[in-house]
Amino acid sequence: MSSEYVTMEKIVSLCKRRGFIYQGSEIYGGLAGTWDYGPMGVELKNNIKNLWWKMFVQERDDMYGMDTAILMHPKVWEASGHVSGFSDPLVECTKCKKRFRADHLENKEKCPECGGKLGEARQFNMMFKTHVGATEDAASVSYLRPETAGGMFVNFKNILDTFHPKLPFGMAQIGKAFRNEIAPRDFTFRSREFEQMEIEYFVDPRDEKSVNAKFEELYGQQMDFLKKIGLSENKIHKIDVPDSDRAHYSKRSVDTEYDFPFGQKELLGLAYRTDFDLKAHTAMSTVDLSYYDEGGKERFIPHCIEPTFGVDRLVLAVLSDAYTEDDLGGEVRTYLKFDKSVAPVKAAVFPLLKNKPELVAKAREVYLALKKEIPQIMWDDNGNIGKRYRRQDEIGTPVCITIDFDTLGEGGDEKKDTVTVRNRDTGEQERVAISELNKYIAP
Ligand code: GAP
Repeated sequence: MSSEYVTMEKIVSLCKRRGFIYQGSEIYGGLAGTWDYGPMGVELKNNIKNLWWKMFVQERDDMYGMDTAILMHPKVWEASGHVSGFSDPLVECTKCKKRFRADHLENKEKCPECGGKLGEARQFNMMFKTHVGATEDAASVSYLRPETAGGMFVNFKNILDTFHPKLPFGMAQIGKAFRNEIAPRDFTFRSREFEQMEIEYFVDPRDEKSVNAKFEELYGQQMDFLKKIGLSENKIHKIDVPDSDRAHYSKRSVDTEYDFPFGQKELLGLAYRTDFDLKAHTAMSTVDLSYYDEGGKERFIPHCIEPTFGVDRLVLAVLSDAYTEDDLGGEVRTYLKFDKSVAPVKAAVFPLLKNKPELVAKAREVYLALKKEIPQIMWDDNGNIGKRYRRQDEIGTPVCITIDFDTLGEGGDEKKDTVTVRNRDTGEQERVAISELNKYIAP
């Protein structure tokens, strides 16, 4: 079957049905651009974040992990250029008063909803404004961060003073970012509250060749990560961002786009931010953010290369990539063909019958022993075996383990302490010794 059948409607519906993603504040009619991750979604998302943290922070000795505040001093965003320049063009319909992002409209004159005349485009700043403290005046204004990067730039000196790293080195963090998008859309793709995984990688600007080499190396590592989480290589595209589309801080940007069901769209970014941020924060804060090179006995402001990953977009890409329909035993079935590393549940354990205490006891024993080693194991005794398989297929569980009477020894000594292991992708079943199960499940 081709993947033409993968539509957003099907993915959104499966996400709700199986507890991956719900509309934010759903019982109040929803809050546009916000999403709540359910029990399956949070496991999937955490798996992606943990793999990233392991690969980019824990397995390296040139990376400093951070977790910085969402609320920051307003001058941070003045220095970074976000107060003056982080905006999208907004147009309002003179008739129905609906607002649109001008650059998303094919016809800039006519309202796509009611056909009314559209007004002049004006710049709309996307940062969420709030007030810090009990007074609501201009002096108390603060912003929810629009990118996690700011928290790292303002801690650059702390890292220098505490760890005395030599260039090149990076700072990395995973956290929420907020943007008051004019038109949130395409499920979680364009949200108002979302998560980023970002690296600010600092290099010596005097050696242009090694700066370029580092840029390529970081791009390669972004691709390695996408492979690790199981995305299809043929759906990934490298885009050299033209000058006119680059962020104000970037000298060179390479975006990674992915074939989502709604089209080829940005998944990751890689930007050469030069000394833009450290210079701007030095000027605004009057704190010296330069680096002293002991070898060359020279002081300078390092340059920064920034690989950035949108967590929610990665979750959506992994879901769309994994969504599969096939014909199994004469029936159309839907399943999520997750790579084991990201699957929210690594295996489900069932007693063949839920009303036989001896089967349930043995199944609990197997379940608890596996769960001790691999926590993402699920107990499932709801409905008949067929229903359980369908449920686990839709969650993307790679294997289902059934404890039956043979496990208890009723089918002879040969089958005692063996279980049925059913493979998600092929639907095939085999008999496996309980002592061998870990091998089947380990991610
Ligand atoms: N620090 C650089 C930065 O924030 P960006 O391209 O504006 O660059 C980085 O955002 C990543 O964050 C994007 O590649 C995307 O994956 C994700 N992202 C941006 N806006 C988003 C939104 N409204 N909803 C979901 N993810 C978003």
